[in-house]
Amino acid sequence: MCGIVAYVGRQNAMPILVEGLRRLEYRGYDSAGIAVHRAGGLAVFKAKGKVREMEARLPARLKGTVGIGHTRWATHGEPSDENAHPHTDSSERIAVVHNGIIENAGALRAKLEADGTEFTSETDTELLAHLIAAEKGDSLIDNVRSVLRRVSGAYGVAVLDGDHPEEIVVARNGSPVVIGIADKAFFAASDVAALVRHTQQVVYLDDGEIARLTKDGYEVTTLDAVPSEKTPSTIELDDMEFDKADFAHFMLKEIHEQPDAVARTLRGRLEPRFSTARLGGLNIEAKDLLRFKRIKMLGCGSAYIAGVLGAKMIERLARIPCDAEPAAEFRYRNPIIEQDTLYFAVSQSGETFDTLAAVEEVQRKGGTVLGIINSVGSTIARTCKGGVYLHAGPEVAVVSTKTFLCTLTVFALIGLYLGRMKDVSPAEGKRLLTALEALPEQMQQVLDREDEFAEVGRKYAHYDHAYFIGRNEGFAVAMEGALKLKEVSYIHAEAYPASELKHGPLALVTAQTPTIAIVPNDDLVEKNMATIEEIKARQGPVLAIAQGELPVEVEDLIVVPETHELLAPVLMLLPLQLIAYHAALARECDVDQPRNLAKSVTVE
Ligand code: F6R
Repeated sequence: MCGIVAYVGRQNAMPILVEGLRRLEYRGYDSAGIAVHRAGGLAVFKAKGKVREMEARLPARLKGTVGIGHTRWATHGEPSDENAHPHTDSSERIAVVHNGIIENAGALRAKLEADGTEFTSETDTELLAHLIAAEKGDSLIDNVRSVLRRVSGAYGVAVLDGDHPEEIVVARNGSPVVIGIADKAFFAASDVAALVRHTQQVVYLDDGEIARLTKDGYEVTTLDAVPSEKTPSTIELDDMEFDKADFAHFMLKEIHEQPDAVARTLRGRLEPRFSTARLGGLNIEAKDLLRFKRIKMLGCGSAYIAGVLGAKMIERLARIPCDAEPAAEFRYRNPIIEQDTLYFAVSQSGETFDTLAAVEEVQRKGGTVLGIINSVGSTIARTCKGGVYLHAGPEVAVVSTKTFLCTLTVFALIGLYLGRMKDVSPAEGKRLLTALEALPEQMQQVLDREDEFAEVGRKYAHYDHAYFIGRNEGFAVAMEGALKLKEVSYIHAEAYPASELKHGPLALVTAQTPTIAIVPNDDLVEKNMATIEEIKARQGPVLAIAQGELPVEVEDLIVVPETHELLAPVLMLLPLQLIAYHAALARECDVDQPRNLAKSVTVE
């Protein structure tokens, strides 16, 4: 999704902005641009396509120490040079970069057009530049404040004014903006990835806040000009974590990081003495946790699917009814929020707009919501009363892999913790705890078989359609496997409960439609065998992911090690991730930045 970077200091801004934009590429985008103050006014360069295409348009000797940059993921208007940010007013005095959507843009634009303003793009952002330019206040920050009070919607913005060449104004409402504090230089960005190379000291803007940055300092106020007290925090991220190292793609690197990531998620959280888990950040007393009668997981995409699996784990361990719902569906159905339901917001980025809106809906109605988040200090993490961080490290590939499995690990810990306060015996708790301890090593054993999965990925790469089937947990694994395959390889992949296949989808099973069957070694193996037979009878090729040999013959069989039954999804997903990756490579797809997708979806 769109990315913002801004710099004010003593160095040449252009290379810093270009490098910052590169760090934001992982979020997914379709055009890029920068604006820099130089002698005689603003210089603006932008281009459809990748950052390198915009960079090719930059003059060799563009000097300026104050500038803003942007990667755009199209919302209003197609990807094009004209719609790329920064946008300027007609006299090119004001330049604006913007993440988010201005909801009343149509009416405001119509009014300006009626008054004779000519627009050069289809974006809602250009409107902001014209409106700010028309303001008559003495300072840029006052002019921006005045405009932002008139617009509705979500925004993170950065603004330059040719009449105030020493400063940048940034503001936030619903779309993240973080200020980076370095030695004699200040940065702003929508994502710490763009700053971490220069500083680890940051200040997060809250909604309704606006800041003025100069090379000598920054000041944060509200849109009503009331000063905000901000305390800088230290981000514990290493620039190297945003590097591909020796891997061809971030997706591959992150798949291989999973044993370490899961080990980090577990670190310090297992309590062998009582066969339970220790979770410091929940901020709810054990006795208060026990009063909840239901649990609901909220998230989007893979985070929602992780919630589906988490709900099954916790329900089995704690014997509390649990379910999961896509956050956007939840927030728009005027949900009944019960005081005895505990909500979990699941999000890698902690910035997904629909998940945040669902959290706010729960909180507005007096409910309790905890976060299962990877990005420390992100908006959802700060909005929730407490929660559990994944500690997976930054996930740069657009598709989630390591954060998915770390989320499952967190749910296993929560299930163990709640279960041990209820009916799970010490022996049963120990069985899960021991399996969790062994998990990273088992994951490594599976990943070491990458060649085997790569061959399968290549073999299935020529199909245009695929079914993924499973039962119970196996169905949730199928959902995530299908999502991974379609996201990176663009093969149409559909997940179905295995039991539902003969109620309709079987009509599409032919020799040209393979089925990936998830077959854990549980009490439903026989049922799964019956479904596989039905597929084979229609000449459908079957790839089974199982935990042992199967009584029926299938086209391809991948066997993963036995583990605790609730952790089987973790091991079964590893081959599915690698199959998706290698199928995508065979189809020459851009695995790290799949078309149309964005890493952190900060708009509705
Ligand atoms: C799929 C994927 C997306 C995200 C979803 C939620 O591979 O990455 O479906 O899971 O956009 O993102 P977060 O977890 O940041 O809220």
